[in-house]
Amino acid sequence: MNAQARLNARYGNDTLPAPAAWTPVIDHLLGHRSVRHYLPDAVSNEQLAAIVAAAQSAATSSNLQTWSVIAVRDAGTRAALAECAGGQAHVREAPLQLVWLADLARLAHIADRAGRPREGLEYLEMFVLAAIDAALAAQNALAAAESLGLAGCYIGGLRNQPERVAELLGLPPRVFAVFGMTLGSEDPARPAAVKPRLPQEVVLHQERYRPVAEQQPGIDAYDAAMAAFYAAQGMNVHGTWGVHSVKRVADGQALTGRDRLAEALHALGFGLR
Ligand SMILES: Cc1cc2nc3c(=O)[nH]c(=O)nc-3n(C[C@H](O)[C@H](O)[C@H](O)COP(=O)(O)O)c2cc1C
Repeated sequence: MNAQARLNARYGNDTLPAPAAWTPVIDHLLGHRSVRHYLPDAVSNEQLAAIVAAAQSAATSSNLQTWSVIAVRDAGTRAALAECAGGQAHVREAPLQLVWLADLARLAHIADRAGRPREGLEYLEMFVLAAIDAALAAQNALAAAESLGLAGCYIGGLRNQPERVAELLGLPPRVFAVFGMTLGSEDPARPAAVKPRLPQEVVLHQERYRPVAEQQPGIDAYDAAMAAFYAAQGMNVHGTWGVHSVKRVADGQALTGRDRLAEALHALGFGLR
C-alpha cells in the first residue's frame, strides 16, 4: 500500500493532500489494526524476546521501570482471563496473552532491602507513573510484534475484575494488571480493517486549546467516515460513532465493573493518596 492510501485509510478520507513527510516507521504505525481472529500458531520464544526488548526500549519515568509483563500461554489461564474480560472469545483463542502490569512491588522490595523509607509509593502519582510506563512499553511491544508479522489487540476488559486477575496470575501487593494484549498470527480468512481516526484538526491544537464546539465539524465528518466504515465492514452499529461512544460513559454501570476500580486498587495495595 502506498503512503497516500495508508493515510486515506487512517482517516477514512480520500481527499487528503499527499503526505510530504514519510518513513517506513510511520508507514508501519499507520497500518495498525486490532486483530480479534487468530490461527493457533504459537508465538516463538525468540519473537517474544524481541518484543520484550522493544518494550524495554520505551522511555520510562526517571528510569524507574515500574512495569512488568506476564506471558500467558496456558489455555486454562487464557480461558479464565477471557471470563474476567467479559467472555471475550479472542482472549481465549489467541495463543499468547501478554498481561501488562503497573508494578510498584519491585521498588518496595528494593527500598525494604536497603532499609530505606518508601512512603512515596502510597501516592496516586506513583500509580499513574507506573500505568503510563506500562502503556508506553506495551505500545512499543505491539508495534514490534506487528513488524514481525504478528497481530494483537489490547484487552482493557481485564480491569473488569482486577482482584480475580491478580489471583489468577499470583500478583503480589502493589502490582496491577493495566490491560492484557492478545498476540498471534491473524486468521487470513477473517482479516481486520484499518479503523479511521478523528480528523487531525480535531485532536491537534496549535498553541492553545481550541474550544470543543469548534471541533464539531470535524466530529461530524468523523461520524460520516465511521458510518461508511461500519457499512463496509458489514457491522450492525446502532447510531453514530458519537452516540455509540457516549453510551460507554452513560453511568457507572456502563463501565462493566470498572466503576469500582479505586476500591479494587486499594485492595491490591495501592495507596492512591
Ligand atoms: C487500553 C485499551 C484497551 C482495549 N481493550 C479492548 C478489549 O478489551 N477488547 C477489544 O476487543 N478491544 C480492546 N481494545 C481495542 C480498541 O477497541 C481498538 O484499539 C479501537 O477500537 C481502535 O481500533 P484499532 O486498534 O483497530 O485501530 C482496547 C484498546 C486499548 C488501547
